[in-house]
Amino acid sequence: VLDIASLYKESGMFTYDPGFTSTASCKSKITYIDGDAGILLHRGYPIDELADNADFLEVCYLLLFGELPTATQKEDFDFRVTHHTMIHEQLTRLFTGFRRDAHPMAIICGAVGAMSAFYHDSIDITDPHKREIASVRMIAKIPTIAAMAYKYHVGEPFVYPRNDLGYAANFLHMCFATPCEEYKVNPILSRALDRIFILHADHEQNASTSTVRLAGSSGANPFACIAAGIACLWGPAHGGANEAALNMLEEIGSVDRIPEYIARAKDRDDPFRLMGFGHRVYKNYDPRAKIMQKTCHEVLGELGIKDDPLLDVAMELEKIALTDEYFIEKKLYPNIDFYSGITLKALGFPTSMFTVLFALARTVGWIAQWNEMIEDPEQRIGRPRQLYTGADKRDFVPVSER
Ligand code: ACO
Repeated sequence: VLDIASLYKESGMFTYDPGFTSTASCKSKITYIDGDAGILLHRGYPIDELADNADFLEVCYLLLFGELPTATQKEDFDFRVTHHTMIHEQLTRLFTGFRRDAHPMAIICGAVGAMSAFYHDSIDITDPHKREIASVRMIAKIPTIAAMAYKYHVGEPFVYPRNDLGYAANFLHMCFATPCEEYKVNPILSRALDRIFILHADHEQNASTSTVRLAGSSGANPFACIAAGIACLWGPAHGGANEAALNMLEEIGSVDRIPEYIARAKDRDDPFRLMGFGHRVYKNYDPRAKIMQKTCHEVLGELGIKDDPLLDVAMELEKIALTDEYFIEKKLYPNIDFYSGITLKALGFPTSMFTVLFALARTVGWIAQWNEMIEDPEQRIGRPRQLYTGADKRDFVPVSER
């Protein structure tokens, strides 16, 4: 009998690290996180400075090219992105093949994957110029695809992009304009959405980004890799958490029911978790959560929403959790998803669109990381090992003798 354990001994050493909690899969110059100190830097710039002073396309440029753009570079980049926002007309027909009640994440996953069937001229990954075109196309077209998924989902006609609007304003226009009435974009709300996009732009080697890198490591085309990232992001432990956090706040409903939910979160026999709390890397306040909380207040203030019961529940829950021993001991702080659901809901998006908005914003991070991986001379196909725990070698038994 072949003994698998002795085979492992002979084949050398490897680490067993489920969930890759202490394994670096790559070198990267894009994003730095200090989870204990609650620090997030993109190319060295703190997230709060970027959120306060830059616009989303400036951050896209920074993530992609490594430096903040000069005024001319910014103008040129904005122009390029703006003039790639249309999608191939045949691609719009793909949407109408889906059921109306399909989740918009399912639709964008399919539509982005299908981009490889429309933009063949930019899928040669060995050509840096073509990779740049694919990156610009991806950043430019994802809002159009996301807005079309939304329009299809709610049964309204598609609204085409407007090149005179900024990135977030154009997205609001494509989502909320109708042929029946003029939609005037509120600059405060579009700035808030732009900031939400900045907060989600990149977050080093999270599950979806690692998925994009792993898919790309085989030489797969960029659109297929981003579709893989979208599929991974959809999970409730990752991008789906903002939807889950809002559902939880709605389920709690009122401040007096919070203790019941806190007790459930602490009960090891109850699978319930406080959605929007905890993070694999942050063992301190997620710096993005603070900015998101501020943005949430700005949006509700601008819309004249006073005394939002969900906000009351969220703020009280946060207060209790931050002083509760269980949460302190386990270092569970609110993450970015805790306040994003309330904000996106106030902006007019249904919960089913929350993860889509996350995917839209994260696309730049995915494509920047994908580019970095392709350019890395040490890059090899990703091929994790496993710790085999199955049967030892045994002889086949014919079915008549089993
Ligand atoms: N509520 C209650 N208890 C929690 C929570 C929570 N939200 N999160 C973690 N814990 C507890 C776990 O039960 C575990 O307890 P134990 O030590 O007694 O077993 C301990 O804290 C550690 O939890 P892990 O699941 O091992 O931590 P991990 O780093 O693997 O998970 C995760 C991180 C997935 C984010 C987790 O905190 C969670 O499920 N949070 C809720 C979902 C969420 O908000 N996800 C968004 C993540 S951010 C993003 O994707 C943008």
